[in-house]
Amino acid sequence: MPRSPLIARTVPTLRRAIDNLRKRKATVALVPTMGALHDGHVSLVRLAKRRASRVVVSIFVNPTQFAPTEDFGAYPRTWKSDIAKLAAENVDIVWHPGVEAMYPAGFATRVVPEGPALAGLEDRFRPHFFGGVATVVGKLFTQVRPDFAIFGEKDFQQLRVVAQMARDLDLGVKVIGSRTVRERDGLAMSSRNVYLYAEERQTATVLYRAMKDSAGRIRAGEAIEPAMARGAETITAAGFALDYFEARHAETLAPVASRKDGPLRILVAAKLGNTRLIDNIAV
Ligand code: PAJ
Repeated sequence: MPRSPLIARTVPTLRRAIDNLRKRKATVALVPTMGALHDGHVSLVRLAKRRASRVVVSIFVNPTQFAPTEDFGAYPRTWKSDIAKLAAENVDIVWHPGVEAMYPAGFATRVVPEGPALAGLEDRFRPHFFGGVATVVGKLFTQVRPDFAIFGEKDFQQLRVVAQMARDLDLGVKVIGSRTVRERDGLAMSSRNVYLYAEERQTATVLYRAMKDSAGRIRAGEAIEPAMARGAETITAAGFALDYFEARHAETLAPVASRKDGPLRILVAAKLGNTRLIDNIAV
């Protein structure tokens, strides 16, 4: 039988609930989300359950990681169905602060991540983004004090930024990456896929196909540059406005000249109409 999770909306309520778990020697895994939950998020919850005896899921659409021109106001909010999904997974606590609980009046501190946050990928197109993510995830880590935190490989640079921050600031949490869940046709699940018109939704599958094609070429011995140029052309020809399509070192995200510099990861970001999609795969 699914059990309704405890829903905490203020820091003191959350702290009490976490202290209760700790008294009972529970290990705790945190899954940070912005809600609009899909099977990708659910897969993170399932991995969390395998790692720890108790699972906390945070749902907070974090204003500091959106630029004024971006979709903060329009970001999908599906509270009822989110809670039903988390209850079905037997999640213990849902941490759902309001903006004023997370950023009270007078809030004046910001985490400024470097290293992977300055790799020249997402940061080139969304310069505000990783500062906002690092600040809110830093807060989530100190609020929940989890043993483990699960992040999707779908947001590959974000995963690297958060893991670096946890190490650098001795936050005492082990950051674990979880593989990307895809639709049957290869499109990576995303809360933003609901923005796609039917025709765009068809076109969106090109990203995964182009990454797989370029990865296959590199594995077969083709040089990185022509293999990547081919994929970029395919994506642009399909009607995307391409931000980047790059092969990088999978750990450091540094640029790579040849496959021998690997392990490699192909990362892409592109806009289809007004919708910006990101994805990545291992080579
Ligand atoms: P959100 O986009 O809701 O994603 C929450 C988590 O789900 C992230 O770790 C993301 O990588 C993972 N995820 C999203 N789609 C996935 C998929 N198809 N397969 C597997 N995992 C997937 O990422 C954020 O929220 C925010 O930046 C956050 C970390 C919560 C900070 O505000």
